[in-house]
Amino acid sequence: MERNSEREPIGVIGTGYVGLVTAAGFAALGSDVYCVDIDVEKVRGLKEGRIPIWEPGLKELVAEHRERLHFSTDLASALEHARLLFVAVGTPPTYSGDADLSAVHAVVAAMPASDRHALVMKSTVPVGTGENIERAFAEQGKGFRYVSCPEFLKEGSAVKDFLHPDRVVVGDTGDWAGDAVQALYVPLDAPIIRTDIKSAEMVKLASNAFLATKISFINEIANVCEETGADVVEVARGMGLDDRIGPKFLQAGIGFGGSCFPKDVTALKQLAGNSGYHFQLLNAVIEVNELQKRRVISKLQKHLGDLVGKEIALLGLAFKPNTDDMREASSLVLSARLSAAGARVRAYDPVAESEARKLIRGIEFTPSAAAAVEGADAAVLVTEWPEFAELDLVAMAASMRGSLLVDGRNFIDPDRARAAGLLYEAIGRPSHNGAG
Ligand code: UGA
Repeated sequence: MERNSEREPIGVIGTGYVGLVTAAGFAALGSDVYCVDIDVEKVRGLKEGRIPIWEPGLKELVAEHRERLHFSTDLASALEHARLLFVAVGTPPTYSGDADLSAVHAVVAAMPASDRHALVMKSTVPVGTGENIERAFAEQGKGFRYVSCPEFLKEGSAVKDFLHPDRVVVGDTGDWAGDAVQALYVPLDAPIIRTDIKSAEMVKLASNAFLATKISFINEIANVCEETGADVVEVARGMGLDDRIGPKFLQAGIGFGGSCFPKDVTALKQLAGNSGYHFQLLNAVIEVNELQKRRVISKLQKHLGDLVGKEIALLGLAFKPNTDDMREASSLVLSARLSAAGARVRAYDPVAESEARKLIRGIEFTPSAAAAVEGADAAVLVTEWPEFAELDLVAMAASMRGSLLVDGRNFIDPDRARAAGLLYEAIGRPSHNGAG
């Protein structure tokens, strides 16, 4: 990847996970990056090299390009040094399921009159947001340009995803701002889609909704596999080799979580509804996902009967491995359901414990997987952390009171579990040890 000292400086507004990765990535490509955040503590930490999120490789990338990364709570330096201001503020769901755009609107309102600048929207926003912002700029006589440049980073591999994107989408009205954004991405050597603003906004929502649909689809196939004796891992392998289907996002499990899929699927459904269209498929995607989180309870009850007083160990809490993010994690529903059913829950997560403590009450956190399973009636693998591949299953079986392992991510080798003397239940795979 070519690095160029002549690179255009940029501003980044919002130093959350998307903003910070974008800032560090563009700094790595040679741009001076002026980051702005309203959170005084966060900015102080960033100036001192403290990274507020756990994302592999990010700390190192920020440290390596420190001299090009400038952090401030004041917009003025970004406006002074950069024409392009990337917006990466949160757009969480509201009670109605629509995206909360108050942080985006606050950014728009804070912009001065200028025909030299452009806002580049990284935050995920409903289709039509760009048009509304352009109209607001025009009405206020601000002269600002607007570009939609949605983000496709995955937590846990965000740095790699920034540096090696499958595609870059630039939605604009065909002037200097879109060209300037495109030029920033050229060194990454990825296909660049130039399109209109609304289509760019829709690419983002449709991509996330499609991936979520793929997951709910394979989860339903898994549930039918359980009824019919087929093995969903074999089925996904056979399906995935079809080029038109592809092998990714066909891992059955206990449902998708995170800050994006649940929010964006609901936002797209809501967007459709607000425009008078009933998006039936997405209703099913959401419902299947909710039910999928709860199926673990029936698997536990099948073997343990009433869960009152039963000791259940949760292995992993984060919504997926390599992140400490607990937003919409399946473990939130699972632990709450288990507690409500009278079970005693112990949980271990290698990274997400402190985030989990803020959201989950009434369970015990343990410092290791071994401590979580000791004396447990059953263990549930919730997040496929790499270290769980190395679990000493023989020692685990010996230290548990019961022998049930529910593998919520089809992560453990069933034969290994069986050989260790565990009663192994997966998702959409035949039960082992004659437990079915
Ligand atoms: C997702 C998208 O993959 C990114 O492209 C997008 O940029 C991002 O949302 C966003 O909009 O910001 P992320 O939420 O980080 O990224 O996580 P994913 O790796 O996509 O996983 C989401 C959930 O789906 C996890 O709970 C994961 O366990 C689950 N999943 C994923 C499955 O259950 N099965 C699969 O086969 C794949």
